[in-house]
Formats: sequence, C-alpha cells, structure tokens
Amino acid sequence: MAEPILEVRGLVKHYPLTRGVRFGRRAGAVRAVDGVDLTLGRGETLGVVGESGCGKSTLARLLVHLERPTAGAIHYKGEDITRLSGRALRAVRRNIQMVFQDPYTSLNPRMTVGDIIGEPYEIHPEAAPKGERRGRVQELLEVVGLSPEHINRYPHQFSGGQRQRIGIARGLALRPEVVVADEPVSALDVSVQAQVVNLLARLQREFELSYVFIAHDLSVVRHISDRVAVMYLGRIVETGTDTGIYDRPAHPYTQALLSAVPVPDPEGREKRERIILTGDVPSPADVPSGCRFRTRCRMAQERCALEMPELAAPTGGGPTGSVAVHEVACHFA
Ligand SMILES: Nc1ncnc2c1ncn2[C@@H]1O[C@H](COP(=O)(O)OP(=O)(O)OP(=O)(O)O)[C@@H](O)[C@H]1O
Ligand SMILES: [Mg+2]
Repeated sequence: MAEPILEVRGLVKHYPLTRGVRFGRRAGAVRAVDGVDLTLGRGETLGVVGESGCGKSTLARLLVHLERPTAGAIHYKGEDITRLSGRALRAVRRNIQMVFQDPYTSLNPRMTVGDIIGEPYEIHPEAAPKGERRGRVQELLEVVGLSPEHINRYPHQFSGGQRQRIGIARGLALRPEVVVADEPVSALDVSVQAQVVNLLARLQREFELSYVFIAHDLSVVRHISDRVAVMYLGRIVETGTDTGIYDRPAHPYTQALLSAVPVPDPEGREKRERIILTGDVPSPADVPSGCRFRTRCRMAQERCALEMPELAAPTGGGPTGSVAVHEVACHFA
C-alpha cells in the first residue's frame, strides 16, 4: 500500500442519551462509531459500506473534523489531528474536505452557485486572494463539467447530478488532499450515478486525491475502490481488496451483503448462495455483547456472545503477503 495519508486508531463517537436523566437514571449512549481502525494510502480510494445507521456518516464527520471523537486518534501525515486547535487545525482542515450525500438539501437554495462553490474561501481567505476567487470558481465549474456561465444561477435550476457536481466543486475549492465523500451518488438516479462516479475517478487522477468513498452497497464502491471496509454497528468487520472482499468474503455479514447484490454474469449467480439477512440491525444504543453481528448471524455460537472478535487475517485466506490487506473480525473466519 502507498504511504498512509490518514491513519485512524481506536476511533469512538458516543452520543449521550439524554432521555431518563430527569429521573436520575444513567441514560447510556448511542455508540455510533465504536472502535474503528483504518488506513488510507496516498492516492488511494477506500470504500466504506454498511447498512443505514451503522455509523458511516458519523465516521465521515469525524474524519473531516466536523465533530470531535469521544476517543481515539486520526493521524494525518503522521500527526494526530484530534489534538490540534487554532491555526494548526485550520491548516489541516483545509486539506480534508467532504462531499455530502444529498445535493438537494446540502446546497443553500438562496445562494448562487458561485457563492456556494466560493464559500470555502470565506472560511479560509488565505486560500485565494479576493480578486482571484471568481475566476477560480469558474475554473472549478469547468473542471466538474458545468458551464462557467452558470455561475449566477441557483441550485434549483440544476438537475440532481449537476447539483452533486456543484457539491464536488465546492469540496475541491481549497485544493484538498483527502476527500471524504459520504454517499455522493445515493440520492441520484441510477443512470446518473455512474457519471458522477466517473467524474470523481477522473478528478482523483487530475488532483492526486485520496478518497474515502462511503456507500450503502458493495456494488457502488467496487470499481472506484482500491480497498473496501465493511462496517456493522460502529465497527469495521472486514476489510480487503477487490479479490479479498468480493471473491472470497470471509465475514458472514459481508457474504450476506454480497449475496444481495445482483451479479451480471450468470455463472457467478450460480456459484453464489443467496443469504437472507434476518432481523433488524440492533440499536447502537443497545449493542449486543461479544460479536455485535451475532444476533443476525447464521453461524453464531456461544463464544460469539462472550468474546468480541478483533480484525485479523482470515484463516486459509489469500496469498502470502496479503495478511494485512484482507482482515476479518469473526471467530470462525
Ligand atoms: N448527533 C447525533 N446525536 C445522537 N445520535 C446520533 C447523532 N448522529 C448520529 N446518531 C446516531 O448514530 C447512529 C449512526 O448514525 P450515522 O448517521 O453515522 O449512520 P449511517 O451509517 O450514516 O446511516 P445512513 O446509511 O442512514 O446514512 C444512528 O443510530 C444515529 O441515529
Ligand atoms: Mg449516512
């Protein structure tokens, strides 16, 4: 793997539950992110997938420093940014930007496209002198495939895909090194999704970006990701490259997610067993003991309730040297 640009260790975000405080009870917490380790190599795309509520957006907000973690460290080029403040923090924040999920709600309807894309310069005026900003915004419009002449239009005058291009242009305004894209295509029509994914791939090459690309579904991240991490209830349960995750998924949860993905070639469909996930995801305010997937796992045994499995190379897994690349958190994988 390339030299790491982001390294996350033991990252935790708990939201205190206020309900019940009045009666003097301990209210507990929503364990949105609950001990995440991950590494992003320079120029790499890490796909992060998982069902609704598993903590993907919380992880994204922690990575771009929109929120502070309850515990853990985020090393950016070797420095723990969770300990920074003031000027040093501002400098780092410029370099790690986010693209949001819903282009319909994340763009202020009362601002022109020019003001939306140029807004980061208001927050980081040192990034571009005032006189150059309009020109930069026009360049950014062109870079994402929109007409610079549309700089004075409003978000409602654009389609969903175009709006997401505007969101991407804003994410690039400060010339970041890392872009965290939180379900950037989930709100778009399927026909438009590939165009936006292709745009992100082109921009990555053009600007040497490193991506954390979040999605619901393994099929969306497959082609853009160098590695994929599968999240379940605030933790990563499996991580690996294309061949590890898609061809030899080791975690029963990954296997179930994959079996729900339609396979284009009929041969693959025949080989793959259909696994139906039963039951709902438990509440992150009341996480099962031991392995948190055990309540829905077809392989669960007594040990799973007692011991939390840590990420480790799957037994009998991949070729030598791939040990650190394919990891799974399951007692039986
Ligand atoms: N500010 C908050 N206060 C309290 N709970 C929160 C807060 N933000 C998120 N949560 C809870 O944390 C859990 C994880 O939420 P998060 O939005 O990170 O999940 P997600 O994987 O992004 O889901 P989705 O796929 O629906 O976007 C959820 O149970 C959510 O209700
Ligand atoms: Mg989300």
